[in-house]
Amino acid sequence: MDKRRAVITGVGGYVPEYILTNAELETMVDTNEAWIIERTGIRERRILKGENLGSSFMGIKAVDNLLAKTKINPEEIDLLICCTVTPDMLFPATANLIATAVGAVNAFSYDINAACSGFLYGLTTASKFIESGTHKKVVVVGVDKMSSIIDYEDRATCIIFGDGAGAVILEAKESENGIIDAYLKSDAIGEKHLHMKAGGSRKPASLETVKNKEHFVYQEGKAVFKFAVTNMADAAYKVMQRNDLKSDDIAYLVPHQANKRIIDATAKRMGVGEEKVMINIDKYGNTTAATIPLCLWDYESKLKKGDNLILAAFGGGFTWGSIFVKWDYNTK
Ligand code: UT7
Repeated sequence: MDKRRAVITGVGGYVPEYILTNAELETMVDTNEAWIIERTGIRERRILKGENLGSSFMGIKAVDNLLAKTKINPEEIDLLICCTVTPDMLFPATANLIATAVGAVNAFSYDINAACSGFLYGLTTASKFIESGTHKKVVVVGVDKMSSIIDYEDRATCIIFGDGAGAVILEAKESENGIIDAYLKSDAIGEKHLHMKAGGSRKPASLETVKNKEHFVYQEGKAVFKFAVTNMADAAYKVMQRNDLKSDDIAYLVPHQANKRIIDATAKRMGVGEEKVMINIDKYGNTTAATIPLCLWDYESKLKKGDNLILAAFGGGFTWGSIFVKWDYNTK
């Protein structure tokens, strides 16, 4: 008999309307389109404009889209997990705001902060609630409003990041498909290379922290790149190996979209060609926790029941990992 598994049965997404192009960035900082495309693969990114709109605004839109597509009644949701580094506020959790707004009145909800690997951490946590038999329908949202923590005078970071949200619903099923295996890691060696200096309990916000621009992403790009390029590829390869997957068995690599060069290195290590790699970094840039669910959202119509997907991410913390998902539906 098949095992009780957590199976993805729907995907939703949302990206804001405003498109920040490389050409517009050229008017803001000393950069150029050719450099951005060659070094990152990014052509444009979406930015959430408007007073008082935070990550919950995009998360709600993504979950509303998911519920409309799957026709699932929000009252059936048992748990909603929101993965984000840009919560609306330090508390309450953005997940609480999303769950109430979408009508998930029977759910409990909480946030997970694992930066760019957040969605993988959320998916793994959600799958455990389902496999244990305590919960039947769990929504995982990956959302970030990176524009809220980016210094648009810093050319090293402002060209990379964008805003967006993606969401999946996991349901309990006796199935050979679903979340099959997860390999997740963290190492605070990454703190010095990628962090936000102030605004937390160690260094609360003050006039001085604002003046010193300490509420923006601080990233040593080259150092992060070195860790990312090896660890993301190693994690994906490890998950393939321990599940006896050869490159021909893989339908898609679903990589975190931080840099096209990191994605290419991961695909190369796995031995898969570019036709098997989900890419949307060109349209959205790096949306942190939203990149992987937004890939699933964009490629959903191409996926078939039984497809083997390898999800892989690397990000702040450092956090990284890979998940083996067997897809469970064909899109009508
Ligand atoms: O998702 C979270 C995890 N984050 C990541 O995975 C990001 C990993 N890092 C990266 O993707 C890359 O390191 C970046 C895209 C951030 C930077 O690319 P790079 O090839 O590592 O560039 P670099 O920082 O080594 O800079 C190379 C040159 C420098 O000039 P010099 O010193 O060689 O004269 C920079 O000053 O490029 C210059 N540069 C730029 N030039 C034009 C840096 N940023 C820009 C820019 N436009 N925006």
